[in-house]
Amino acid sequence: MTALHPPLIAPSVLSANFARMAEEVAAVEKGGADWLHLDVMDGHFVPNLTFGAPLIKALRGDSKLPFDVHLMIEPVDPFLEMFAKAGADHIHVHIEAGPHVHRSLQTIRALGKKAGIAICPATPASAIAHVLDLVDIILVMTVNPGFGGQRFIESQLSKIRELRAMAEASGRDIRIGVDGGIDVETTPRATAAGADMLVAGTAIYGQSDYARAMNALREASRPYAP
Ligand code: DX5
Ligand code: ZN
Repeated sequence: MTALHPPLIAPSVLSANFARMAEEVAAVEKGGADWLHLDVMDGHFVPNLTFGAPLIKALRGDSKLPFDVHLMIEPVDPFLEMFAKAGADHIHVHIEAGPHVHRSLQTIRALGKKAGIAICPATPASAIAHVLDLVDIILVMTVNPGFGGQRFIESQLSKIRELRAMAEASGRDIRIGVDGGIDVETTPRATAAGADMLVAGTAIYGQSDYARAMNALREASRPYAP
């Protein structure tokens, strides 16, 4: 088994102050964030609405952080190029968002972006077995997507372990992210199971000192090897 990477921290702007978005992004960039997680919701695939490509484009000019764009939209294919052009570096599509996710992942790669596959709590790990050859990142939803501030679903830990084994067996360098309910309590369990990317909204933007909150998560993620 190849060594895991030290876990990366990706603050989710879903919990940031939307009226001061540029400042909120700059604050986590200065505070040591590795990636910036941007949650796009359509009120159809998930029961909530957030923002689209124009906001991502507006933020792009002021930040050097890799933009990790989580598309909770259906259909997704008509919008991939738009998000790539807006400045996404990684684009996550949901395995549950339609029958042609294989094509979506091919499109993301053809656009020169890192391809992520997001997987909801009720979906088994095996559902993504036949797209792993196209994937750079697996995003394990540890809550039902749609809202920040929800409780971490413990049953996902065994799925993370299973996906880590599948990723290692693929021989490809695949990051495994966890998204939802990530804080200093849940982080060690997620990283011990094999996660090496942590998305956190409330646990960073819900705190007064973002740098301190990110350091606390990083500290909680050690030791990270299963
Ligand atoms: C939920 C989003 C998450 C959300 C996580 O659908 O995908 O990225 O921002 O929020 P917390 O960290 O508060 O659970
Ligand atoms: Zn997300």
